[in-house]
Amino acid sequence: MEVKIFDDYNTMSATAADIIIDCVKNKPNALLCFPTGNTPLLSYKLLAEKKREHHIDFTKCFCIGLDEWLGVPPEVKGSCSYDLHEHVFEPLGIKELQIHLFTGITNDTKAECRTMNELVRKHEGIDCLLAGIGINGHIGFNEPGSDISMEAHEQLLHPTTLASGQNYFRAATKLEKGITLGMAQVMASKRFLLLANGTPKAAIIKTALEGEVTNQVPASYVRRCENSIVLIDKDAASLLENKWN
Ligand code: PGA
Repeated sequence: MEVKIFDDYNTMSATAADIIIDCVKNKPNALLCFPTGNTPLLSYKLLAEKKREHHIDFTKCFCIGLDEWLGVPPEVKGSCSYDLHEHVFEPLGIKELQIHLFTGITNDTKAECRTMNELVRKHEGIDCLLAGIGINGHIGFNEPGSDISMEAHEQLLHPTTLASGQNYFRAATKLEKGITLGMAQVMASKRFLLLANGTPKAAIIKTALEGEVTNQVPASYVRRCENSIVLIDKDAASLLENKWN
């Protein structure tokens, strides 16, 4: 694990965008995994700007989504599918043929998970996976207490996730379960970028980086991952005691 602390959200986001661009330059057919949430929004904006400015070719890469709310259709703003199209795929000009997302509308989550697991295996793993961190320490929908050895799976959502999840939707939305890549796949990624900014994330960043490595805080497993880079701004780093930079 490498930790980089930035003066502000801008420089943190620019670095995340640069790492994704380097990944695609080095391996044009890279498998990229994108999350939703507020944290990566500026990285996505800068990624699209840099792509245009430097003519980076994203036409050969393949993209997957980290997770999805079960029961929420893809045309609803707030679903991971809708938000990834709006913030990542459309700005980068990524075509549907280059995308596979979990669907929130399914009677067979096991089949959904199997398809995703096979796809990740077919690509020989994820080349670059970006993730935010929940204030409960989740990564994707790997909630506190979840089995770290799992691949894609259905997950009952933690109360904190259910509450903060409402903020992504225009109207109150029934949320209960999610579908997510598992920590086994997150940790096996050739690049695992964990992003956090702002003081609301300071306590969980301290717990994840300086507390016990435990499945009660799935993000703490970032420390067991050789290929991980934690990118945080100084507000999210404000409670850290170790010298990380
Ligand atoms: P946020 O969500 O980026 O909106 O803070 C992160 C997460 O819950 O994983």
